[in-house]
Amino acid sequence: MEIIEQVTPMQIRAEELRMAGQTIALVPTMGFFHEGHLELMRVGKKHGDVVIFSIFVNPLQFGPSEDYACYPRDLEGDLAKAEKAGADIAFLPSGREMYPEGFQTKINVKNVTQPLCGLSRPGHFDGVTTVVAKLFHITKPHLALFGQKDYQQLTVISRMVKDLNMDIQIVGVPTVREADGLAMSSRNSYLNAAERRSALCLKKALDLAEELVQSGEKEAGKIRAGMTSLIEHTAHAKIDYIQICNPITLEDKEFVEDEALIALAVKVGKTRLIDNRIINKRKWS
Ligand code: PAJ
Repeated sequence: MEIIEQVTPMQIRAEELRMAGQTIALVPTMGFFHEGHLELMRVGKKHGDVVIFSIFVNPLQFGPSEDYACYPRDLEGDLAKAEKAGADIAFLPSGREMYPEGFQTKINVKNVTQPLCGLSRPGHFDGVTTVVAKLFHITKPHLALFGQKDYQQLTVISRMVKDLNMDIQIVGVPTVREADGLAMSSRNSYLNAAERRSALCLKKALDLAEELVQSGEKEAGKIRAGMTSLIEHTAHAKIDYIQICNPITLEDKEFVEDEALIALAVKVGKTRLIDNRIINKRKWS
């Protein structure tokens, strides 16, 4: 596996690959790999000839009281796992390489960044879109893969790509889960044993919502109330948000009649976890 740490050599290598007719798939990450990250690489390998992944813990997307300084890292382990998953090139830039002195540009997607995680993480998605746009310009991918676990992130990036006519196909990959249903996340490593048990309340709340819808409940308020009660009865858990919304605009829905996104963020101890599910998924004939 090739390792590239600087922007210019990465751009030259990407251009070489393009000139040789190779399809480039990009998997942007912040490292500390689990099966979710590796699945993106495997899917990337199916769609493309060369999989480039980046590891960069992006300071621009963390708020002042968030976990930037202690974000988990394991570079050696990550490289071994990525190689096994079939990745070809690791792009590992430093902070100075990505944000040299004088850097002052930001990308802001206006509406879909506002609800859900936008409410409790102001500025977060500007940090995400800015770094992802930079990574696109540096690695020149034909396609880029993102997890549906971060549904809003996938929506915001798809919007940016469309609005700015970036010639890149965005591929959303279904959430990879632990055996009991907890969505895999690098932040799960912060949980102690009791919190790990409580963390299952996100998946249980989504199951409950789906059951309610299947049994005929259409009022978003009632579905949210059921989910709220389940989580409030879970030790160590504190709700950040539970929203039922349009899966494209992310605007709140009062009634669940067709396809809807149910998304939630819950603090379990000090760890903020997110999960989501699309219900009444349209079937394509
Ligand atoms: P990170 O949290 O490292 O996630 C990297 C990619 O892995 C994202 O596309 C995320 O949605 C995906 N992912 C995480 N957990 C997953 C799971 N359980 N199943 C499937 N995919 C999963 O998201 C980021 O980094 C950053 O915001 C980034 C896009 C790299 C910009 O800095």
